[in-house]
Amino acid sequence: MSAPTIAVSEQAAKRLRNYDCWVFQDELLRPDGSPPAPQDPGRAGPPPGEIVEVADRYGAFVAYAFYNPRSHIALRAVSLCAEEPVDRALIARRLAHAIARRGRLTGTTARRLVFSEADGLPGLVVDQYAEYLVIQLRSAGMDRLRPIVLEILRDSLQPKGILERSDKEFREDEGLQPLTQLLSGEVPERILIEEDGLRFWVDPHHGLKTGFYLDQRTTRRRLRELIQPDQRVLDTFSYTGSLGIAAASRGARVVCVEQHEPFLELAKDNAELNGVSDRIEWVAGDAFYWLPAQAQADTRMDWVILDPPSLAKTKSHLTQGRQALHHLVVHALALLAPEGSLLLSMCSYPLLGLVEEIVRIAAAQQRMRLCVREQWLQAEDHPWILQIPPTRYLTSWLVGRDARPAA
Ligand SMILES: C[S@@+](CC[C@H](N)C(=O)[O-])C[C@H]1O[C@@H](n2cnc3c(N)ncnc32)[C@H](O)[C@@H]1O
Repeated sequence: MSAPTIAVSEQAAKRLRNYDCWVFQDELLRPDGSPPAPQDPGRAGPPPGEIVEVADRYGAFVAYAFYNPRSHIALRAVSLCAEEPVDRALIARRLAHAIARRGRLTGTTARRLVFSEADGLPGLVVDQYAEYLVIQLRSAGMDRLRPIVLEILRDSLQPKGILERSDKEFREDEGLQPLTQLLSGEVPERILIEEDGLRFWVDPHHGLKTGFYLDQRTTRRRLRELIQPDQRVLDTFSYTGSLGIAAASRGARVVCVEQHEPFLELAKDNAELNGVSDRIEWVAGDAFYWLPAQAQADTRMDWVILDPPSLAKTKSHLTQGRQALHHLVVHALALLAPEGSLLLSMCSYPLLGLVEEIVRIAAAQQRMRLCVREQWLQAEDHPWILQIPPTRYLTSWLVGRDARPAA
């Protein structure tokens, strides 16, 4: 049976043909070629998650896509080739390609094997933690393909267990219920992973994301290259301590600040595991209050790391996010020793383009000249596809206090 056809605007068709993935509800066309009225965005049509054929306004094939009338992203393109429909064989090919692509990644037993749209599998995330897999299904289309995905992953990787962690934040927009379930084998409460000789416990059942910030691997690596023994490091928003522990492993003296106590408990066990407990002080508290209090107390740091949670999930939260980031940066700068560095990681996609301006304004307030020493992105197993802007979602800036040039 052939897939139902949905026509899209000229602009949307052009974007898809240039490897973008998404079409929004207001870009769908009625059968007569006119745009739909705002109040009937999806109209009567295929159910959520159905695979449809996308056509341009002249009826020419554009793509096969997942359709969802409930989401503001109406279509997620999967295949741009009329001869390659979305079937088991295509999913198997895409999975094999994504997994092979990560073969180059060494020095770690934990990696992202599949990164959704970036790997041509919209809405599918597969993370590997040693012999276990944790997956997320974030689109209605992928949700319907769960049995196929599961079977291929089991056959090709033979993991000891597969856990699904399809959390609310990723499913709500698609009209899907959150879901945490064991899909195969056994998955322990804690999994031990190793990265560049450091060891970490990962809690795949209750941790953030799928348990560990795999996307911060480059930050951990760069920190370990740059930190000098005995430097004072403040790791705010430390979660299970990966950055603070990376710094302590090079001999730094670290303070980790984290609001959620169970994460701090895991962080302490991670420090123990790596023999750096005596170099880390733990603070269970709110970084938004703790930072200004320390700045008043005359504390000075060689490094301040800011890795906050998303401060603006959508454009509608921009003002609030901007204020929050400004507050953090002003007080982080106040804590810097004369040659100190600020390491700022930002995962709020709508805020990314504003970060430099926000830091510039905060620096003016602190009367500091800053030198941007380095900038990097999310780790390489989370590929950034140029034509799919949201696949570049995490950027880190390393900014140092810079002496004013001599007169
Ligand atoms: C992006 S994660 C940090 C990841 C961490 N740097 C790592 O590499 O594993 C943000 C963390 O900030 C914590 N958090 C959120 N709001 C906070 C606050 N106001 N004060 C302190 N920690 C907070 C969250 O519990 C979460 O663990």
